[in-house]
Amino acid sequence: MTIDRRSLLSGILGSAVALGFSRVALAASEVERVDDLISRMTIEEKAGQMTCLADAFRPFNPPNPDAGIQDVKRLAQEIRKGRVGCLFNGIGVAGARKAQEMAVNDSRLGIPLIFAGDVIHGLKTIFPVPLGEASCFDPAFVQRTARAMAVEATAAGLHLTFAPMADVARDQRWGRVVEGAGEDVVLTSLLSAARVRGFQTGDLRRNDSLVACPKHFAAYGAVAAGLEYGSVDISDETLRETHLPPFGASFAAGALTTMAAFSEINGVPATADRSLLTDILRGEMGFRGFVFSDYTADEELVAHGFAEDDRDAARLAVLAGVDMSMQSGLYIRYLPELVKSGAVPMATIDVAVRRILYVKAAMGLFDNPWRSLDEKVEATQIATPAHRALAREAAARSVVLLQNDGVLPIDPDRGRKIALIGPFGEDRDNVYGPWAFYGDPGKGVDIASGLRAAMPDSSLLTVVRGSDIRTGIPGGIDAAVKAAGAADVVLLAVGESQDMTGEAQSRTTIEIPAAQQALVDAVAAAGKPIVVLLRHGRALALHDGVANANAVLATWFLGSESGHAIADVVLGKVDPSGKLPVSFPWESGQEPFFYDRKSTGRPVLDNGSTEYKARYATTDNSARYPFGHGLSYTQFALDQLKVADPALRWDGTIEISARLTNKGSRKGAEVVQLYIRDRVASRTRPIRELKRMERVTLDPGRSRTVRFTLSRTDLEFVGADNQRLAEPGLFDVWVGQSSTGGLHTQITLYAAV
Ligand code: BGC
Repeated sequence: MTIDRRSLLSGILGSAVALGFSRVALAASEVERVDDLISRMTIEEKAGQMTCLADAFRPFNPPNPDAGIQDVKRLAQEIRKGRVGCLFNGIGVAGARKAQEMAVNDSRLGIPLIFAGDVIHGLKTIFPVPLGEASCFDPAFVQRTARAMAVEATAAGLHLTFAPMADVARDQRWGRVVEGAGEDVVLTSLLSAARVRGFQTGDLRRNDSLVACPKHFAAYGAVAAGLEYGSVDISDETLRETHLPPFGASFAAGALTTMAAFSEINGVPATADRSLLTDILRGEMGFRGFVFSDYTADEELVAHGFAEDDRDAARLAVLAGVDMSMQSGLYIRYLPELVKSGAVPMATIDVAVRRILYVKAAMGLFDNPWRSLDEKVEATQIATPAHRALAREAAARSVVLLQNDGVLPIDPDRGRKIALIGPFGEDRDNVYGPWAFYGDPGKGVDIASGLRAAMPDSSLLTVVRGSDIRTGIPGGIDAAVKAAGAADVVLLAVGESQDMTGEAQSRTTIEIPAAQQALVDAVAAAGKPIVVLLRHGRALALHDGVANANAVLATWFLGSESGHAIADVVLGKVDPSGKLPVSFPWESGQEPFFYDRKSTGRPVLDNGSTEYKARYATTDNSARYPFGHGLSYTQFALDQLKVADPALRWDGTIEISARLTNKGSRKGAEVVQLYIRDRVASRTRPIRELKRMERVTLDPGRSRTVRFTLSRTDLEFVGADNQRLAEPGLFDVWVGQSSTGGLHTQITLYAAV
């Protein structure tokens, strides 16, 4: 294999330059420095650069099994010998500085370490879980919160975050739905790219630039039946159409690393899949950064039944294109011998090391190994009031009003007695959500505290737990029913705990745990107005007292400012404007469920006939709350749908506009959404596909015309031979307020003449 240094370099620069990130460029002297280093490195040192280990100096080992090197003396020795390239999941400048000194001052070649970590939705200031924040449908806003997270992470001595999760989650039983932007490819692409831009800025050398690692490549969100770490059996077309684009968008936004998925695709574990990690990732997608394995995923090739033993696993992973092995230590253990025996060419190793060192150079680490290691910044830039205020805004924007008969908002000045019932009312252990390991326990605001702070007379609030999360408590329901009877309005804070979502938390049913459902049903029977505040990391199937409540709010895990933000919305200080990034089905058994599904030959039509149609015997295959749904306290109306000319020429564009009016009496924000359907194609197309969205804020009585421009590329799909193509013909277009309904028109794409 020949190594073309120039093409590698232009690859790195290419993706950067395409977005105008010219400052990522490596100077010729840096390229020479990397070349010089590689020419002087032993195979051990090369394998060391390709090794990423958990930072045992500052033990912090999120959900994973103990592995790697836990003995700190040994870890220090390994760094001094140049046998480690990256440490992960330790934070704090002092510790990082010590480790960097070992690498820079004590190792033979002095190559700096990368400090990586899982900053998924905040370091100390915890923002809403990514799925919750996706509800804002607003890339510019998501970019702002990512920036704030990056400022805190880099202040704490991190260079790189294992985020964003760019996996499109097609099955709500999968626990990691919570880490991404939901079920839709376009929304996930836009928000992943925004997060990359927010983390990195346009200049990777800045002290506060946090290198992004969009993960998990690829199709991890398509694991069969939502089973964590499970298998993916998928067509080439669906892989390319649904699961790869968010990665492409993230790379185009400047991401220079990615992480191979734990799962297998079509019988080949991603970690050993050369066609995925090299042919598709680099060949088709033009990625020029470096690839991490996931945590011990190379070692797991043995359990997959794909590698004979650990040595074979290391060989398969490196040949497939995994450049940096996370936590197993397999590369440092086996690469030297694998190269010596000829099982792995030295050229393969050199390519991987070069990719890693180029990224280190692009981050400015060679010039300044002490970047992002400044105690003063650490003391002043973490958990700032400004970040806290942004977290409150983000949390309020993430709330989705699913239904409301007018009970909300509750006017705080009307002196109404409120009963707050349920296991999440005063709970502080479940406000952050999963993957917020650096957040200080107990520093998040619970709902009761948020309400008390906002109510002019907090003695009007009664709080009753009523039930634990998974089990009832003696006398709990009686106390709750009594409190409800004495109140004017009841808030029920029910749902999932944070350890019911996230990695390794697949569920077979996506319902409120039975003990809490019993609580809600009993309280509902008291006949008082009920507002349900859902706590959750996925879409849920709601039933009985929950589904029939006077109002239901999706409040996810909102982070540090949870209680304040919920009070802001419930008491009407903030108008809810979130939209669902995942469909809420009627029943768990509808999963995998997503709005952009196929028609089938026997769709249920509007004429009511359901016999011998594509539906379950017990329920329509529609959603209780569709993707894109979300109400407001004011009323928005769309009209005047206009298409200047419904004929779209092959190389032309088409403008579609509609007028949005705030018909209510409050200021509010609406997300106007444009969907298409390709009526006839050589591969069947979904019944709807989101193509554009715009968040519009309007004062009461005001209108704004929203304009969307489409071109042929928006009508493309992946057809035969994995080629993206658009086919001439008729397309439906809807401009609406969710993935159902809306104003309808049609356009026609004409072939080139
Ligand atoms: C997860 C990754 C994460 C890594 C490091 C793994 O278990 O799948 O998403 O980045 O651990 O903590």
